[in-house]
Amino acid sequence: MVKLAPSIMCSDFIQLKEQLDIFEKENIDYLHIDVMDGHYVPNFTLGPDFCKALSLYSPIPLDIHLMIENADNHIPAFSSFGKPLISIHPEAGYHPLRSIDFIRKNGGIPGIAIDPATPLEVIKYILPDIEMVCVMTVNPGYSGQKLLPQTMNKIRELRDLADGQGYTFDIEVDGNVSWEHIPAMVEAGADILVLGTSSLFDGKNGLSENIKKIREMTGS
Ligand code: DX5
Ligand code: ZN
Repeated sequence: MVKLAPSIMCSDFIQLKEQLDIFEKENIDYLHIDVMDGHYVPNFTLGPDFCKALSLYSPIPLDIHLMIENADNHIPAFSSFGKPLISIHPEAGYHPLRSIDFIRKNGGIPGIAIDPATPLEVIKYILPDIEMVCVMTVNPGYSGQKLLPQTMNKIRELRDLADGQGYTFDIEVDGNVSWEHIPAMVEAGADILVLGTSSLFDGKNGLSENIKKIREMTGS
């Protein structure tokens, strides 16, 4: 079963309550929250106060994608919102295994997110310690970008590696998870789809209608 994670930075903030209600009714698996610091990535987005408000209102677990430097300084705050998935980028810090341990100690579920240019070799010794790998298929920082096609092979390679080694982590795909690309992403081995402007939030149909369409496409 493919899990669905709407990218909340793509939601309509003025209608957020109504949109969260729809996600709950539609049994959405995670709320994907992009945290950007203006250093590791050029953009600024959502922060701990926003995550806190979401977790107080919605029972859907948070999937917090930290695109920030000095993540360790902020892990205790982010870990306190329910029992969230928290992914860090190995490219944004020096000792990812220390950060992963820190996430667990603070009550979060650790994941690792990788930039499109980062080879799987970089996370080889991290894989036994995490519950999720977020494969970025666009450069981190903005919604509405085009897929970098070489990342499709990376999803497939990671699926083969995980199956070969008996790892049970979920593979999440983040970036231009579009109507066009969803079937190939699932076929390549995605377990979690981050849904942004290129599918769920395309503005053409209602959210419920788009969720139904994605479930039909993915058999989930
Ligand atoms: C990246 C974010 C969003 C997401 C948006 O970390 O999660 O930018 O990719 O989806 P699209 O690419 O469909 O706008
Ligand atoms: Zn993300």
